Amino acid sequence: MNIAIFGLGYVGAVSAACLARDGHAVLGVDVDPNKLELIRGGRSPIVEEGIQELTAQMVSEGRLQVTDDVEAAVGASALSFVCVGTPSQPNGSQDLKAIEHVAEQIGAALRGQDQYHVVVIRSTVRPGTVMERVKPILETQSGKRLGEGFGLAFQPEFLREGTSIRDYDNPPFTVVGADSERTLSVVRTLFEHLPCEFLGTDIGTAEMLKYACNAFHALKIVFANEIGRLSQALGVDSREVMRLVTQDRQLNISPAYLRPGFAFGGSCLPKDLRALLYMAKEEDTELPMLDGVVRSNQQQIDHAVDFILQQGRRQVGMIGLSFKSGTDDLRESPLVTLAERLIGKGIELRIHDPNVQLARLLGANRRFIEDKLPHIGRLLSEDCGALIQDSELIIVGLSDAPLSEQVIANAKPSQTVLDLVGMKGLDRLQAAYRGICW
Ligand SMILES: NC(=O)c1ccc[n+]([C@@H]2O[C@H](COP(=O)([O-])OP(=O)(O)OC[C@H]3O[C@@H](n4cnc5c(N)ncnc54)[C@H](O)[C@@H]3O)[C@@H](O)[C@H]2O)c1
Repeated sequence: MNIAIFGLGYVGAVSAACLARDGHAVLGVDVDPNKLELIRGGRSPIVEEGIQELTAQMVSEGRLQVTDDVEAAVGASALSFVCVGTPSQPNGSQDLKAIEHVAEQIGAALRGQDQYHVVVIRSTVRPGTVMERVKPILETQSGKRLGEGFGLAFQPEFLREGTSIRDYDNPPFTVVGADSERTLSVVRTLFEHLPCEFLGTDIGTAEMLKYACNAFHALKIVFANEIGRLSQALGVDSREVMRLVTQDRQLNISPAYLRPGFAFGGSCLPKDLRALLYMAKEEDTELPMLDGVVRSNQQQIDHAVDFILQQGRRQVGMIGLSFKSGTDDLRESPLVTLAERLIGKGIELRIHDPNVQLARLLGANRRFIEDKLPHIGRLLSEDCGALIQDSELIIVGLSDAPLSEQVIANAKPSQTVLDLVGMKGLDRLQAAYRGICW
């Protein structure tokens, strides 16, 4: 395929050389004449393992060329990759000037063209940028509509500086958010040979994915370092601890606990996190990230309370009270905290939890709930159907399929469902729907 690449920095220079190596005819475009001159002379503008040799070979074979003539580059290509910088501004927001400038140039170049052209943004941009900023510029400048004269996609780049050619050839996955199947299939032809899954999605998801991945990587580093500082203070070998942490592929290095949902609770996580933070305090060791975990967890409960109060509905039914499905353990259940907060705000709350029967609660569990919700007996309802029928707003806090099925089958259009667990079969739900954070 004939490909134009805008921005010949780390991402663009590596992509240009690798795409040329893979058999494509690549035309690189950059505003920096020094970079163009370097590549023209067979030298890469960046220092990376293997890039000098590959660039020299691709330029000498004529498979990689450069130009500052945008119209010629777009005219000669079926696809443009945009890899220009998106640096931070002083307030942390993104500077999109380079992206917008390139979009104007590509759009203007598309004006006189008959050939369908695919524009793929590879620069990291905040969700919404491609459809709300890039698309209107391309449409205005080209006089064409998205899907008619051109296609648009966002493909997050996962290469790491230092190992970028190896990362280009062995990415964790290839994800492309595209405006249409047509666009997706054009991009797929460039990457389907890679030894990883090729996944298509929508553009906003692909834009957010890049931030989610980078935030997760940063979070992992800081987590290991906080465990490291505390272990060191306690005289424990943090590297051995983390080596063992990573051996658990069921709960630690796995999709477990990585689905957006309600706050965590129960008799272990809050208690042990508090104990860990107390140990840190005793050792004069600051763990701001783990400290922030407690606050962030409370925010998830605040988020639910705010939504419910904003609805202005007084009759609220809550399905679930224990901290997760299949248990009657109420200790530190975030649903108990939610119930407590709603009652405090004057909400008329009814609760149904198939595992919670007051007469059968014993010991610490019973003392906890009688302390938190003194009138618990009056709040509990054994009849889930009646609770659904009588509530203006229904909170689904347990993931048991029969319970959500009851809500889906019976909730009316006048009611609102707040889903804390990720209910299935929503296409059949008639009530207004809101996910806790989706
Ligand atoms: N560096 C990485 O490892 C990496 C990894 C993944 C994603 N990203 C993202 O990719 C994007 C590019 O990163 P980078 O490190 O390659 O940036 P860079 O600063 O190294 O390169 C950007 C290039 O774009 C050029 N440019 C600016 N305006 C232009 C225009 N109007 N037309 C043509 N070229 C123009 C610049 O001259 C420069 O050569 C950023 O959004 C970055 O966040 C970078």
